[in-house]
Amino acid sequence: MKDLSGRVAVVTGGAGGIGKAIGEAFLAEGMKVVLADVLEAELDAAVSEISSEDVIGWVTDVTSFESLCSVRDAAIEKFGAVHVICNNAGVGAGAKGHLWEHHLNDWKWSLDVNVLGVINGMNAFVPTLVAQNEGHVVNTSSGNGGYTPLANSGIYPVTKAAVTTLTECLWGQLREIGSEVGASILFPSTRSPGVMATGIWKAGANRPDRYSRGDGGTVVRDALSDYLARAKAAGEEVPIAPLSEVGELCVEAVRDDVFWATVPMDRQTDKLRARTESQIRRTPPEYLLEETLMTQSADEREQD
Ligand SMILES: NC(=O)c1ccc[n+]([C@@H]2O[C@H](COP(=O)([O-])OP(=O)(O)OC[C@H]3O[C@@H](n4cnc5c(N)ncnc54)[C@H](O)[C@@H]3O)[C@@H](O)[C@H]2O)c1
Repeated sequence: MKDLSGRVAVVTGGAGGIGKAIGEAFLAEGMKVVLADVLEAELDAAVSEISSEDVIGWVTDVTSFESLCSVRDAAIEKFGAVHVICNNAGVGAGAKGHLWEHHLNDWKWSLDVNVLGVINGMNAFVPTLVAQNEGHVVNTSSGNGGYTPLANSGIYPVTKAAVTTLTECLWGQLREIGSEVGASILFPSTRSPGVMATGIWKAGANRPDRYSRGDGGTVVRDALSDYLARAKAAGEEVPIAPLSEVGELCVEAVRDDVFWATVPMDRQTDKLRARTESQIRRTPPEYLLEETLMTQSADEREQD
């Protein structure tokens, strides 16, 4: 979609973090934006902070197909059409221990939001986009799982691998039917070095009751502060990266029809190569054993 001005986008997980930055980047292109999020107060705050007649908020739970249909209809009612859906909402469950010890509700919550949420968004929006033969779907994945997993954070990369594969198949099927509708996978990343300081680092926050672990509640750690402290102790000073750069990456993906929407990084490329080599040569995935400062060990998670 070369000309974004006047087009209408819905962004899930739009109350803060990367979703809000994507909404702001679309606005800067002259688009109309619906920010959709399950957190009503945060959504209201984001909409009043942006303060534009071209932005509305819509309380949406991506685990519900009906809720995504409702935000689609709200976009059409308010702005007359819908062209772009960014399936961006995502959670980290903050599961304890090893993979085989994680509570099933950690799996269910993560799969419902991170995977089913994207499927619900696809099913609610793609028929409209295909019927008008115009539009774009952006699904937010992560380098963690979308490229190679951080073995220590098991559930999350499983969900992001699913989002990546789903989007590849979506792209293929849209091409198969000869549609002009585009599809991209967004790997949030920035040209400036640093971490993206968003809510995702507070794994387990805002856990709905229906996914309770029955253990009196999750202790929500500020994993970003922990990571910055670990990095500092290892002699690394990690800056905070501007989220606006992720928004710009998303704009480029839609405008220039870029499938792999990412800032290439040598470290990531090396891991991708190591994984492919391991698959081709049928050797064990030893690249997974690399030490990382990003995630806690299973023992540390157990102490939460
Ligand atoms: N921040 C990073 O470093 C990073 C890196 C790679 C990928 N991502 C991905 O980027 C996306 C955005 O995350 P973020 O980093 O901005 O974190 P964030 O926590 O700031 O934003 C996620 C948003 O999703 C919303 N959400 C959660 N459950 C929902 C539901 N059921 N329905 C609707 N909205 C719901 C949250 O309320 C929140 O506003 C996620 O998919 C995340 O996995 C983030």
